[in-house]
Amino acid sequence: MDVIVVKDYESLSTQACRMVSGQVQSKANSVLGLATGGTPEGMYQALIEEYAAGNLSFQETRTFNLDEYIGLPTDHSLSYHSYMYKQLFNHIDIPPENIHLPDGNASDLQAECKKYEAFIHEAGGIDLQILGLGHNGHIGFNEPETSFASRTHIIELDNETREANARFFEQKEDVPKRAITMGIETILSARKVLVLVSSADKAEAVKDMVCREITSAFPATVLQKHPAVTVLVDEKAALRLPQERITRYE
Ligand code: F6R
Repeated sequence: MDVIVVKDYESLSTQACRMVSGQVQSKANSVLGLATGGTPEGMYQALIEEYAAGNLSFQETRTFNLDEYIGLPTDHSLSYHSYMYKQLFNHIDIPPENIHLPDGNASDLQAECKKYEAFIHEAGGIDLQILGLGHNGHIGFNEPETSFASRTHIIELDNETREANARFFEQKEDVPKRAITMGIETILSARKVLVLVSSADKAEAVKDMVCREITSAFPATVLQKHPAVTVLVDEKAALRLPQERITRYE
């Protein structure tokens, strides 16, 4: 696990954009695993700017999102589908057929999970997976005690996750109770993983992800097993990290 500490959210976004751009520039038909949430917004904005400047094309890139709420209409402003179009896809040249998100309104959700895994497999697997980190250690929506062997599946969201995501909704009751998420094994199958974490309220979670023994009680600890993980954190999120676990400052 390489742990890179940058000054602030802006540097985190720039640095993350550099890594994703590098991936797409070195392999035009890269398969990217994408995350939603507050943390990657700055990175998406920076990628749009790179595209607008003519430095980057997504014509051949394929994307798979980590997760989607169950039961929220696809065109609901807070669906992850809408998030991705608003934050990135509407502003770049990616062909719509290259974009994949789980369908949280599929009539057969189990079949949808299987289909999603099959699509990832057919695309040749994920080259670079972007992740955020939940306060409870979730990656994707794999809440504590999710099996490390899980593939794309249906999950009941933790109370803590629904509370954290309530900031995007009018009230907590509006946050869906279930989601489809890539499984932990799906995430571990990615060739490279980039974890983005910003702000002091995640400092304890960052320390646990990097230092705690591997446990399903804190799913992100499983990333310690992956051979190519970069953890990119700003100074505030790195506050509780022991010095010896930090690879470098940039
Ligand atoms: C999002 C996702 C989640 C978030 C995590 C952090 O697709 O799967 O794991 O990455 O909840 O969210 P933010 O960035 O909003 O703190």
